[in-house]
Amino acid sequence: MIDPKWKPETLAIQGGYRPKATQPRIVPIVQSTTYKFDNADHVASLFDLDCADHMYSRLSNPTWAAFEEKVAQMEGGVGALVTSSGQAAISLAILNICRTGQHVLAASTLYGGTYSLFHNTLPKMGIEVTFVDPRRSAEEIRACFRDETRLLYAETIGNPGLNVLDFEKFSAVAKQMQVPLVIDNTFGTPYLCRPFEHGADIVVHSATKYIDGHATSLGGVVVDSGRFDWNCGKYPELTEPDPSYHGLRYVEKFGPQAYIVKARTQFMRDLGMCVAPFNAFMFNHGMETLHLRMERHSSNALAVARHLQQHPMVSWVNYPGLENHPTHALAQKYLPRGCSGVLTFGIKGGVAAGRRFMESTKLIALVVHVGDVRSCVLHPASTTHRQLTEAQQIASGVSPDLIRLSVGIEHIEDILADIDQALAQC
Ligand SMILES: Cc1ncc(COP(=O)(O)O)c(C=O)c1O
Repeated sequence: MIDPKWKPETLAIQGGYRPKATQPRIVPIVQSTTYKFDNADHVASLFDLDCADHMYSRLSNPTWAAFEEKVAQMEGGVGALVTSSGQAAISLAILNICRTGQHVLAASTLYGGTYSLFHNTLPKMGIEVTFVDPRRSAEEIRACFRDETRLLYAETIGNPGLNVLDFEKFSAVAKQMQVPLVIDNTFGTPYLCRPFEHGADIVVHSATKYIDGHATSLGGVVVDSGRFDWNCGKYPELTEPDPSYHGLRYVEKFGPQAYIVKARTQFMRDLGMCVAPFNAFMFNHGMETLHLRMERHSSNALAVARHLQQHPMVSWVNYPGLENHPTHALAQKYLPRGCSGVLTFGIKGGVAAGRRFMESTKLIALVVHVGDVRSCVLHPASTTHRQLTEAQQIASGVSPDLIRLSVGIEHIEDILADIDQALAQC
């Protein structure tokens, strides 16, 4: 049995899967699409959601279940659902409670893929999204709400802005406006930050990043705190009959797990953004060292940030662990164990120097990814954002001199030596 008093480090290793005598010690990879039954009634009860056994691996799978349980325990939620990517987790978290004609309010400091989903794709489905600068006051954020607003969305640590969210302000506004606060905790990770303790209602992750941690597998996860009151009149899809399950009402039948059960049994069933059991195995495996990795990612990133601050080739450094960072006080409040592994800095010499730096590192690899145990670098202005004008780049938070480092867990002296030799060539 899981002891609810276990510390996060223990849950990361021992949470989720608890084998009985003679069962495999390690979470097995159940590479099976289907499950065998002895009689029709059992299958019928599964289709009626009267029992929770596995039926088909688009809906659930024992390897998923072990990982889902572990994440839910670490986040302090009532349930979780693993998905095929972080983007799938975000889409599912929103579509589960938001439909055509409704509205999402989101912090403007978001990962580019999420911005694109919100700015381009959700509107095509009839869901409008308004972006608000998270530095605005509670009153200003409240003023962006509409009658149709169904959720407030933000990232624990904005990517790539690296601003730490003011959870107290955002959760107070969400509560007052009677909508759930949905948090992307990808950079926060279930070890460095537990958004439910700070008023969030739903958490999503790109498991592709620190949860996997080794750049092997794409996936995501949605976690439900079980605390939002769906009976407030705005969420009929959770309180009114679902014709696809003979008129079942999710809140009535599943109580605090209504949101996550509906996400699985309705949207995962219908949209099928499901992950391979092998990837869920890799995520579970990654979680077992999450606490150790995040400590080292954070301490290495802080050391790199401090080193860069002193370097004559560097004009600015952006890392929430630095005392001069605009959200340093929020980092101390919400990320006491560390500020994760990503930082950005400005290189003197603009685009040309940025490109040279990125092409001169030897240990640190040019990769369009973060959250890997291996250090990686990206100069967006000459790669991912090259097609934008300089004005468009700046508007999207990417200045021509900006370099993003995802600091890995190699020895800090080797990381710093590589940075220094690359800067020397710029
Ligand atoms: C903060 C954040 N959220 C979501 C995603 C999307 O995740 P995935 O690539 O797994 O779809 C990313 C990807 O970089 C991210 O950085």
